[in-house]
Amino acid sequence: MNRKVTVVGGAGNVGATVARSIAEMELADVVIVDIADQKAAGVALDMLETCPIVGSDSLLVGGSDYAHSANSDVVVITSGVPRKPGMSRDDLLNVNFNIMKAVTEQVVKYSPNCIIVPVANPLDAMCQAVLKLSGFPRERVIGMAGVLDSARMRAFIAAELNVSVENVHAFVLGGHGDTMVPLPRYSTVAGIPITELLDKATIDRISARTAGGGLEITQLVGTSAWYAPGASVVEMVEAILLDKKKIVPCSVFLQGEYGVDGVFVGVPVKLGARGIEQIVQIKLMPEEEAAFKKSAAAVKELAGVIGV
Ligand code: LAC
Repeated sequence: MNRKVTVVGGAGNVGATVARSIAEMELADVVIVDIADQKAAGVALDMLETCPIVGSDSLLVGGSDYAHSANSDVVVITSGVPRKPGMSRDDLLNVNFNIMKAVTEQVVKYSPNCIIVPVANPLDAMCQAVLKLSGFPRERVIGMAGVLDSARMRAFIAAELNVSVENVHAFVLGGHGDTMVPLPRYSTVAGIPITELLDKATIDRISARTAGGGLEITQLVGTSAWYAPGASVVEMVEAILLDKKKIVPCSVFLQGEYGVDGVFVGVPVKLGARGIEQIVQIKLMPEEEAAFKKSAAAVKELAGVIGV
């Protein structure tokens, strides 16, 4: 194939989910890079052997050497320590920052023109670290969070109303943490805002469950989620590789948009071949704006701790 996606940390749960979907959808050749050298090679081989069954000509290789990743179009960084029950995403700050330092250097060395999709937590602060460490323009560092948070909210709305998830659209903005901002006014079922379909108590319950969605899985499984996070990354990678101009919420470096400057926060963006092709500004009500600003301030504080 003439497209290449590297998944760093690709032998882990989220990374392997991403690698497998990209190969099965025949979106690109896939390179799995992981410090677990043999496991990465084995996981890639197992997936390669899946391709004849699913009818995909994607090629996969894996190992700890970044040389295979050279000239990737997109590099997804799933490396990092996941949450255990009782931990917040913010508890991972320092350990995952050190991992981002090592990874970003190699990514930039081998794929200076790629688009990077960071996934490690605390997500927005890790994006900020990768942007600074890479020296890339902001269009090429795009954090995965809003697609996942919105997917969780869509699942909960569909279950509540007993409708197809395909009818349900949801927007969750802000940081990917306890201060995330579900936006019921912009969340719709067949185009109808859910504020017309559900009472406030139900919406509040859905919003709270969405904000705690990662924690809910972590408590059930004993480590953080991977199927929905993996699928969310793949939606973003597909939009980039196929130049779809798809509008999805992602964590991006704001420079004045939404009244926020110099910090990564989740907002709707148009994704295409150039990465972020547009930051879509929607009007927020005063209480939504206050929640958004609070969320941005929380990210800024975390980024300040690691000096990025
Ligand atoms: C979650 C992790 C990936 O929300 O942050 O499941």
